[in-house]
Amino acid sequence: MKCVKIKGVKEFEVSEINEPENSDKVIVDVKKCGICGSDIHNWVMGTPAGLVMGHEFCGIVTNPGSRKDLKIGDRVTALPISPCDNCEACKTGNPQYCPETWSNALGLSLTSPGALAPKTSIRPDMVLKVPDSISDEEVAMTEPTAVGLHAVNLANIKIGDKVLVIGAGIIGLVSAMFAKKAGASNVVISEANIARAEKAVALKVADKYYDAKDENMLKKVYEDTIKGYDVVIECCGNEPAVTSALMAVKPGGTVVLVGVATGAINIPTVVAVTRELTLKGAIAYTKEEFQTCIDLMANKEIDVLKFVSDTISLEEVQKAYERLTSGNDDAIKILVDPNK
Ligand SMILES: NC(=O)c1ccc[n+]([C@@H]2O[C@H](COP(=O)([O-])OP(=O)(O)OC[C@H]3O[C@@H](n4cnc5c(N)ncnc54)[C@H](O)[C@@H]3O)[C@@H](O)[C@H]2O)c1
Ligand SMILES: [Zn+2]
Ligand SMILES: [Zn+2]
Repeated sequence: MKCVKIKGVKEFEVSEINEPENSDKVIVDVKKCGICGSDIHNWVMGTPAGLVMGHEFCGIVTNPGSRKDLKIGDRVTALPISPCDNCEACKTGNPQYCPETWSNALGLSLTSPGALAPKTSIRPDMVLKVPDSISDEEVAMTEPTAVGLHAVNLANIKIGDKVLVIGAGIIGLVSAMFAKKAGASNVVISEANIARAEKAVALKVADKYYDAKDENMLKKVYEDTIKGYDVVIECCGNEPAVTSALMAVKPGGTVVLVGVATGAINIPTVVAVTRELTLKGAIAYTKEEFQTCIDLMANKEIDVLKFVSDTISLEEVQKAYERLTSGNDDAIKILVDPNK
């Protein structure tokens, strides 16, 4: 079958891969698959060559494998992770801390090709059945939505808090959405891409935005908040973004680091020391948070479809990555329909 593989630095190829073989794994026909900011890091680095990405998906079961409770035709998604189930983290419901969680992760490892293909196969215990009331597009949005929920759960936002979210990609936007739900009185976005920043405000996810390239941004932060934001959620991972997160939070405040830096970065830790900041990393989600996102969509308590900008074919994936990294396009989440 057809698939999209990493070929080199910023280069994909539409290629061939064997269809998944029958085993205990759940095999699905992929309906929709999201392009993730983490996938962009792999594409930019061009590694690992041959990787078939795609870990945010909606699929229709064609072979339930060892899952006796599933049948052909069921609509599902899955946590793309590969926890060991035996370690302390796994046994306490925190598979995101398991050292094996990314080793065979779906669409993130060579051992488990992802959903940028018409079919994929998934570790049975990670598969979640979804209700008919949510669309294929919403189902494909579950994974990034759960990342934002996890970040906000770690942020301990109190009613009335002022929250700054750095980066208005999908992770920043869902974090901003949940920050409001958690009781923040004021949610502001900082973005380097003004088209995206304006969209965040137009979608009513943020009350206003700062231009991250404006050298007076921090001055504006202090004009708006006096001492800085109660909570800052950093959703970019680069040096200027993490630095601005530390500078924009109030003394005693909390910074949640969600953005992934692919190498070591220089940040002014003295700011964290002298302001006694709480710095927290946030990785992935728990199974409960994943299910919560499905439930919130089913109950119409959150609308994540407003973040979907386009649906494209496998042949258009290369162009979509170029668009998402152009720095001036307002596209947020681009979904791939491998049968388009
Ligand atoms: N921790 C986790 O579990 C987890 C999960 C998924 C994604 N991520 C990471 O979160 C980050 C965001 O993911 P995404 O899908 O939203 O990515 P994205 O690339 O779509 O969005 C990042 C945004 O940050 C903006 N930006 C870059 N530098 C900035 C700066 N200095 N100030 C303000 N804005 C700036 C970019 O213009 C872009 O809009 C990525 O690093 C991704 O790898 C982490
Ligand atoms: Zn993702
Ligand atoms: Zn484990």
